[in-house]
Amino acid sequence: MTKLNGIKKINVAVFISGKGSNLENLIKSAKNKNSKFKISLIISNNSKALGLKFAKKFNIKKKIVNFTKTKLIEKNLLMDLKKKNINIICLAGFMKILSKNFIKRFNGKILNIHPSLLPKYKGLNTHLRVILNKERYSGCTVHFVNSKLDSGKIILQKKVKILKKDTVKSLAARVLIQEHALYPKALNKIINDL
Ligand code: GAR
Repeated sequence: MTKLNGIKKINVAVFISGKGSNLENLIKSAKNKNSKFKISLIISNNSKALGLKFAKKFNIKKKIVNFTKTKLIEKNLLMDLKKKNINIICLAGFMKILSKNFIKRFNGKILNIHPSLLPKYKGLNTHLRVILNKERYSGCTVHFVNSKLDSGKIILQKKVKILKKDTVKSLAARVLIQEHALYPKALNKIINDL
């Protein structure tokens, strides 16, 4: 926990792999007066992730971690998270599966945002699959991470109506707008319950 202007804020690390629009949105939400969290660390498995630019822009420490060489690297990462007093990890477009060992050893909560109405459409290419299956609704889900893919306890969900003219791109864009509203809300909600 960190004190900012006399207010206690939970330290959050955001893990990304790509564009980082959810990361940018969480950083901006953290600056809201009533927000209960601060983004203190950015972790990426991909040195070319566009979202890494937000580290410089918002003056946040970043680290690139090669998650394929697990054990030792995970141990170092856990030490970094401890040093920075990270209480919560938010996965935001992070396309690696964290090991059971890492999840068990991280002494805090891990959240993920997924672009579907879980438990439906776990995994990749969700927008394409919902359109091909002629679903009427899709959406997004913020959930706790456990050792099974996209399967932890659900914190919040938001429905998005699928339009006849929707393409993967148009649906993804509308779902992303809802993701940006949902993730900070879910994060503040679980912080209240801590
Ligand atoms: C978001 O739509 C997020 O829900 C999704 O990747 C996108 C990342 O966008 N995550 C997954 O599919 C995880 N299974 P962003 O990098 O702009 O935040």
